Amino acid sequence: MSAETFQAPIDTEARIPGQAGELDEPVAEAKGYTPPEQEPDVVAVAGFKGGVGKSRTAKELAFLRQAVLTDLEWDWGGVTRGWGYFEEDRVSTPPLLRAFQTGETPKPLSGNGRKPDLIPGHTDFERNQPKADVVAESLQQWSRELKRRIVVDTHPGGCESTYGAMAGARVTVVPAVLGNEELRALEGLLTNLPDYPLLLIPYKVNRAPAAWLLDELERLSDTFQAQIGPAVGNYSWIPDRRSRVPICASKPSKRTGQFIEEMQAVAEAVENYGR
Ligand SMILES: Nc1ncnc2c1ncn2[C@@H]1O[C@H](COP(=O)(O)OP(=O)(O)O)[C@@H](O)[C@H]1O
Ligand SMILES: [Mg+2]
Repeated sequence: MSAETFQAPIDTEARIPGQAGELDEPVAEAKGYTPPEQEPDVVAVAGFKGGVGKSRTAKELAFLRQAVLTDLEWDWGGVTRGWGYFEEDRVSTPPLLRAFQTGETPKPLSGNGRKPDLIPGHTDFERNQPKADVVAESLQQWSRELKRRIVVDTHPGGCESTYGAMAGARVTVVPAVLGNEELRALEGLLTNLPDYPLLLIPYKVNRAPAAWLLDELERLSDTFQAQIGPAVGNYSWIPDRRSRVPICASKPSKRTGQFIEEMQAVAEAVENYGR
């Protein structure tokens, strides 16, 4: 697919909610944005539990890697609505469903360089998700044909599309929250999927995490030969944030600076994984 295809995106912001400020970029910003041409690369973000930070991580990583954010989550509250794509406002067949129906590579929506370009998720994907091997091959095909890196966000837990994203990915980033239930969920993932290349990211880490939780994460990493990457802290302001723009897309501030540095370290670890 040529760069021109991106310069005439299907749309950018379909709905402008009543809030002003950073929630929406002026459409004029669309001009002058040319997506990069990249070596194909698929990276997944997955976990066996909701609420651990998959979507935030996927969105930030996609932005930092200038990748196309691909959303295989069907529940609301993920990256698609957070980006500003509202399925109820759309009349055409959802791009994800169309792509799997036709075998054609979907055309990402443009984020104009301020947000990642997006292949949006859809509620109906839950019932229409193909087998894991089809998902894996499709993601690789899309990355090749778009000449773009892809970062995939996934539905929590074991389902065909999540297994497929992980099978198609060069590495799967797994946010590892240091809590008892979260580590049990992680153990479930590692037990069920022992052979996938995984990068465990200690996530939402408090200033002084209990030593036993750190030991437990290390034990899991040793037992299942899963690499531990750089940690990301727990920031009380993140859940309150309403902006569609990734945190890493804004100029670092006193509040955001540390998070941005941590995410940049994660992006670097993803880049270097297995290389
Ligand atoms: N580093 C962080 N520190 C604090 N809260 C975070 C952080 N990252 C994400 N969150 C919040 O945690 C909740 C779950 O994050 P989300 O990325 O949606 O997880 P998942 O996709 O795994 O369900 C959201 O309220 C989100 O704003
Ligand atoms: Mg999510």
